[in-house]
Amino acid sequence: MGTHIIDGRIISADIKAGLEKEIRAIKEKHGITPGLAVVLVGNDPASEVYVKMKVRSCEQIGLYSRKILMDDKAGQKELLEKIDELNQDPKIHGILVQHPMPSHIDENKIFSRIDPAKDVDGFNPISAGQLMIGIEGLKPCTPYGVLKMLEATGIDPAGQHVVVLGRSNIVGKPVAMMLLQKAAGADATVTICHSRTRNLAEITSRADILIAAIGRPEFVGPEMVKKGAVVIDVGTNRVDDPSSEKGYKLVGDVDFEAVSPKCKAISPSPGGVGPMTIAMLLHNTVTACKRIHGLE
Ligand code: GUN
Repeated sequence: MGTHIIDGRIISADIKAGLEKEIRAIKEKHGITPGLAVVLVGNDPASEVYVKMKVRSCEQIGLYSRKILMDDKAGQKELLEKIDELNQDPKIHGILVQHPMPSHIDENKIFSRIDPAKDVDGFNPISAGQLMIGIEGLKPCTPYGVLKMLEATGIDPAGQHVVVLGRSNIVGKPVAMMLLQKAAGADATVTICHSRTRNLAEITSRADILIAAIGRPEFVGPEMVKKGAVVIDVGTNRVDDPSSEKGYKLVGDVDFEAVSPKCKAISPSPGGVGPMTIAMLLHNTVTACKRIHGLE
């Protein structure tokens, strides 16, 4: 049997189509348009692309969106004041401050200031705590997208050994927590590995489901993967490519060509988790709007 390619573009398009209908119904029934504010501090080229994609996706499905660009010299105080303003703004139901922020900004202070009701990134310590103990809150978009991807592909993590490669607050830790929950679509046995893990390949090759989120281009080779495993590649890395017009290309954390023949299913990067992250951001904005207005 061939390898199933988990196509995040198709799965996310389905989610977005469902959201578009839901947004139309909310507008018609309640006269409310869910709204997202995306804040970018500085001019990191990759972040500029992501922010543009997020705003464009809002427009496609009928969400109100506001892009706020701040100079890279903007101070912590200015950014905190902007968040306070958005926390109070009735047109805004979701607030996202693009990571990474310039080094003079304390990201944790910024994420902590976002009203948890509008925390569509799920990076506020309250949201992270809610995720940890498995109570209602807004879930971080990339990990949420990974779980939705598995669900849409008919892969049930229950009882399976999931190995997460990476321990970031944005992906590694929350995806491990989500899969550990006593809940449908989770219930996995989870191992977290990282750059300091000894005998890494030995551990990753015991995974039924391997989630690569270590941020190193094509780091996962076939010797690290069990035959018949499911591999989810969360990585998006820019590598030099003189043959391309831009001078670079995007690759994942997995050596797709070498690894895919061994897998039962694999998500490529680009075209896998990336579009799912955006779909879940839109989903979270609609959820936040419904909760704020008591529409659920
Ligand atoms: N940078 C990379 N991924 C993300 C994300 O999910 N949210 C934010 N705010 N920044 C990011």
